Amino acid sequence: GKSVVTLDDLTTSQIVDLLHKAQYIETHRHEVAHTCDGRVLATLFYEPSTRTRLSFETAMLRLGGHVIGFAGAQLSSVTKGESIADTVKTVSNLVDVIAMRHPKEGAALVAARAAKDFGIPVINAGDGGHMHPTQTLADLATITSRYGRITGLTIGLCGDLTFGRTVHSLVETLCRFGNVNFVLISPDELKMPRYVIDRIKRAPSCTYTEVRDLAAVIGDLDVLYMTRVQKERFFNEDDYLRLRDTYILDEAKLQRAKPDMAVLHPLPRVNEISVDVDHDPRAAYFEQVHNGMLMRMALESSVVGDTLPGYEEWKNQEV
Ligand code: CP
Repeated sequence: GKSVVTLDDLTTSQIVDLLHKAQYIETHRHEVAHTCDGRVLATLFYEPSTRTRLSFETAMLRLGGHVIGFAGAQLSSVTKGESIADTVKTVSNLVDVIAMRHPKEGAALVAARAAKDFGIPVINAGDGGHMHPTQTLADLATITSRYGRITGLTIGLCGDLTFGRTVHSLVETLCRFGNVNFVLISPDELKMPRYVIDRIKRAPSCTYTEVRDLAAVIGDLDVLYMTRVQKERFFNEDDYLRLRDTYILDEAKLQRAKPDMAVLHPLPRVNEISVDVDHDPRAAYFEQVHNGMLMRMALESSVVGDTLPGYEEWKNQEV
């Protein structure tokens, strides 16, 4: 099986196929319930997670497979000094697929290389400030479920655009499809990195603007992707405290937004979306969690080489 360290490891048509598979899985739960019978997923999580680990695990369980792993490396042999490569070579002898989260950028690539000799795919569940490809798949599925498409939209990304790995993955992937207007909303200290801006500039029919004031642009947006200021990636506590509450989306601010705008957030949130927004039909962030599970079901079955019963016939009729 092929590892997925970034979404560049998937072709654009494979990403579209995963979106179709997620739609199929949603409506054919019973048909797919034995797709991965006998398979074992290992979740190696060296950094805290709620959604990603639990949805990787429930995805495999709902496909009929099993799950092992650790959440927090303190009970593993990492505490004795074992390297990522040795850990992954060991686990590759035990399981069919590995999902790994690690605080260091590049850790997933190291893991994928170590697992390659054993033919075991590694799925990156987030590596430092670098990439979070399965979150992007959840985001794309959510935009698709709201709009029926991911192109031709004005997409605002708001908050910590420097350290937020989810926005980097999302923008880079949307650029592959092209025809997106990006509105990058952040304080000067947390702007989108240059390499992401350069990617937008090279993308077909994509535009971008950089602004500080959310209220000034919220009425233009089809999607507002809020992010948490990434406390764990700051060197200086004072900077974090000064910047953390720059943007707080509440019902009053939503008054200016389009009635069908979708509010996305990878979660966890701190203060950046007020709980009074949760009941607004525009709030799509808990749908994102559900879509993330469906996309992980699609991805896990694909990388281990198991076909979803009935999918090809459905696709030929539906798509
Ligand atoms: N969205 C996301 O990655 O959440 P967790 O950190 O809880 O996995």
